[in-house]
Amino acid sequence: MRKIHLLLLYLFTTFTSYSQATKPEVAIIPEPVSLKINTGQFVLPRNVVIAASAHPQLKSTVAFLRERLSVPTGRNVTVSKPSTTATIRLILLPTPDNSIGKEGYHLAVTPQNIVIRANQPAGLFYGAQTLVQLFPNEIESAELVKKTSWLVPCVEVTDYPRFGWRGLMFDVSRHFFTKQEVKQYIDDMVRYKYNLLHLHLTDDEGWRIEIKSLPKLTQVGAWNVKKEGYFGNFSPPQPNEPRTYGGFYTQADIKELVLYAKERFVNILPEIDVPGHSLAAVVSYPELSCTPGVENYRVRSGEQIMDWSHGAPPIALVDNTLCPANEKVYEFLDKVITEVAQLFPFEYIHVGGDETPQNFWEKSDAIKSLMKKENLKNLHEVQGYFERRLEKIVLSKGKKFMGWDEILEGGLAPSAAVMSWRGMKGGIQAARLKHEVVMSPTDFAYIDYMQGDVSIEPRIYATLRLSKAYQFEPMPDSVDAQYIKGGQANLWTEQVYNMRHAQYMTWPRGFAIAESLWSPKESKDWKDFINRVENHFNRFKIAEKNYAPSMYEPIFNVTKTPDNNVKIALSTEIEGLDIYYTFDNSFPDRFYPKYTEALVPPKDAVMLKVVTYRGKEPVGRLITMPVTEWKARAGIK
Ligand code: ACM
Repeated sequence: MRKIHLLLLYLFTTFTSYSQATKPEVAIIPEPVSLKINTGQFVLPRNVVIAASAHPQLKSTVAFLRERLSVPTGRNVTVSKPSTTATIRLILLPTPDNSIGKEGYHLAVTPQNIVIRANQPAGLFYGAQTLVQLFPNEIESAELVKKTSWLVPCVEVTDYPRFGWRGLMFDVSRHFFTKQEVKQYIDDMVRYKYNLLHLHLTDDEGWRIEIKSLPKLTQVGAWNVKKEGYFGNFSPPQPNEPRTYGGFYTQADIKELVLYAKERFVNILPEIDVPGHSLAAVVSYPELSCTPGVENYRVRSGEQIMDWSHGAPPIALVDNTLCPANEKVYEFLDKVITEVAQLFPFEYIHVGGDETPQNFWEKSDAIKSLMKKENLKNLHEVQGYFERRLEKIVLSKGKKFMGWDEILEGGLAPSAAVMSWRGMKGGIQAARLKHEVVMSPTDFAYIDYMQGDVSIEPRIYATLRLSKAYQFEPMPDSVDAQYIKGGQANLWTEQVYNMRHAQYMTWPRGFAIAESLWSPKESKDWKDFINRVENHFNRFKIAEKNYAPSMYEPIFNVTKTPDNNVKIALSTEIEGLDIYYTFDNSFPDRFYPKYTEALVPPKDAVMLKVVTYRGKEPVGRLITMPVTEWKARAGIK
């Protein structure tokens, strides 16, 4: 009897582990509109034929599939004319299927072949992204993998995006990222079906785009002093420190990037941030400020130049603004916008408008007489005047005008589109006024913020956890949906010094925002999303791309008890984790005390160390919190 039990147990465990080992794990991000998993599998043959028409816009899709399906697998991948016997068929539908729109696709995997159908080349490109995500994780490898069979589960997918504007903003001003790095960023974003790259090209720390009629912008404005540490409070650079840190894109570089992006169905939105955040321009051409006599301004190297202690708008310690009362400013902007408009085919130009200090304007006689002449009641209206003049310039070059939501404050220019960042309210207000809107609110979409506890993350003044980013809902209730074009996540780079860190900040929150912008609202499911995120972490590991593991690490809630002691409550963002801790300075593992209830530090303890496990596997990084920190958080001196 006992033997039979054991035999049954053996058969059962063998069977279940067998079925689990071979059960295909389908983990697509962003979640498709409709996904049906059928029985059976497609096996990648030795010789793979991709059939596609000679349409020039199919080249990048074919090249992408060819590379991914050959490099890790060692398979021989060739390309043929349209053919019913090919392994993978990319088909542009001869009669439009209105259900999938311009970017949607149908993907069918059967044991015989793989077929992707779409109305437009973009749809085939996105179908190919989904297909690669259906392959085993090793498909991401940059090298040949020792694996004999490459199986894809049989599926039927119908998919299309919820929003047409699915953006990532990359700040290439605070730290310069090379043309090659921007291409890498594009390669990474399109894997998750983003279609818009917003390049923040100018700021106080650097002007990054060659303007041929204004050469000093890049001769002078693109360079500062390299500093490392916490940006914002660096020591002021000395005159003898070399100004060799930075760089810019030549116009040839920009053309190359625009083409590279276009081949991958990405539009590039250029941003020229004025009238604030303009120190690099002011240093290059001091006559553009309201304070032209001041000679000692330098492109910012991370030293303090604004005082935020009084809230917005900030007080500028050096004048980083263009002067709205100066006609030369509009001549300058006409030149800049003329060249920018010629370089970027995208229909919008973003002209910033955020965080403009008013203190230098306030003291300016030129501004005072402009206010009198134009009947402007306050300095917001002065900025409104500036924005309306700039709007005319942008429109005169055949482009649409877009700015951050501060442009609402001085009276919105008639055709302006608004990018809402200080929450959703600016976007809602603009949509009610029948203006186009892109949502990128700090509370859900600012991926420069920390994604975990400050004890371990590179320090920034705010936090945006993955779970919050996953709640991003770009469409507010009670506005006409036609005005909400979509949304984007913004990667400001004051504290992002290199590409590995840019990846760390972008992923996995970029997965969450991608899903908010592409997938149906009703399909959101946090637990299911996390399972898929973990699959993609494994893909990133194989691809040697960086990501943040912060979702595995505890959330600390430190409070003061009535008897003036400290209580440290810990929780986790995702389910199924155990937290182990020590107060004795040694390194906790799963043989140490397991967290079950809020901790009261022993009287003489000086250090809390915590680590998270899933079963026997450590998953989070070690977090160390000294007594000074927990006392500070509890408000105990
Ligand atoms: C912004 O974050 N200042 C647009």
